[in-house]
Amino acid sequence: MKILSIETSCDETAISLVDAHGEINSPLFSILANEVFSQIDLHKEFGGVYPMIAKREHAKNLPILFKKILIDSKMYIENVKNFSDDSLWNEVKEILSKEEELYFQLKNIFNNISKPTIDAIAVTSGPGLEPALWVGISFAKALSKIFDVPLIPINHMEGHIMSTLIANENKKEIAFPAIALLISGGHTELVKISNWGKYEIIGATLDDAVGEAFDKVARMLGLPYPGGPEISKLAEEAREKNIPRFAKFTRPMINSNNLNFSFSGLKTNVLYYLRDKFNDVDLDYMNKMDIAREFEDTVVDVLASKTRKAIENINPQTLIVAGGVIANKKIRSEFLHFENEYNNLQVRIPTNMMSTDNSLMIACAAYFNISLDPELLKNTKKIEADGNLKLN
Ligand code: KG4
Ligand code: ZN
Repeated sequence: MKILSIETSCDETAISLVDAHGEINSPLFSILANEVFSQIDLHKEFGGVYPMIAKREHAKNLPILFKKILIDSKMYIENVKNFSDDSLWNEVKEILSKEEELYFQLKNIFNNISKPTIDAIAVTSGPGLEPALWVGISFAKALSKIFDVPLIPINHMEGHIMSTLIANENKKEIAFPAIALLISGGHTELVKISNWGKYEIIGATLDDAVGEAFDKVARMLGLPYPGGPEISKLAEEAREKNIPRFAKFTRPMINSNNLNFSFSGLKTNVLYYLRDKFNDVDLDYMNKMDIAREFEDTVVDVLASKTRKAIENINPQTLIVAGGVIANKKIRSEFLHFENEYNNLQVRIPTNMMSTDNSLMIACAAYFNISLDPELLKNTKKIEADGNLKLN
């Protein structure tokens, strides 16, 4: 089954075409084409992501990436002109009534292609920035109308969970119950997965997400957005050089009797440390490295401790750790060691490319949803963006 998937929930515009086969327990995904365009350079200027700028950029990039996907998968053939039905284009115009430029770009592309063989289109419908989600959904709706194929809405967080299944073909099947630790720019949550598609949130952050904490602390240290990779580089250098340890931060909620997290206090902890120790004095590179290392160690301790607690409560057979923050080397290696620590626990972590936002994971999640409920291919429901969409 060929699935075209679209992801625009934050600052990455991503489109891919995936051929998915096989049973739900041992699926195989062939990547026919995959494009991700990161808006990071643009958002760097502002130190964070502005939803309306993200939306504008998605609208600009979606047709470009879509055309690339068609070329890469050999579906783009010049001058075929078999999409010339005026009434169809009137309907597409209606769908893209708020995105006129997108409509013209799309019409231009379709002057040049033969009918691609696509079985379904998957699009992220939430959680995320609503204006950014909407532009992806409108684009996906237009394509679904043009190709006359079903449209499947996907929860971005379910996508992150499924990101551990692509390029992991040599791994064992996922055994249940499973636990997922989801760590991204907007989420930090522990999810119990009793079977495919059966989710229960058993712990979550009470305030900031872990990725958000990385980004905010990076900003305090004068590092560019997104802060995660920057802090990680500094922390690694501190470990390599084994510089002396001065900073010491409290591990928030590590001893609380539940599976929740809190990272805003840690951010304040860093802020006060900087204010008290460096007042008007310039923060030097050594101290930046020291702070980055201690911050990262604190995050690792808290994430690992809460995950251990969840493992002890649920006794899962699989641990999935996913979301952009799992691109962090220190956090990756900590969780990979869980396989040695717990007998019979399989640890699934996405490849680096699949860790941060992408659309392959959205195609993957769509395949699982379709396998669980083939009716999804028959009746396309009304699809709306939901910035706070929950896993259920
Ligand atoms: O999943 P993701 O790409 O987007 C959201 O759904 O939020 O996650 C983005 C987050 C950002 O906060 C970014 O700083 C963080 O992931 N991140 C990292 C690393 N790479 C990305 N955090 C720590 N270490 C990294 N190497
Ligand atoms: Zn994400």
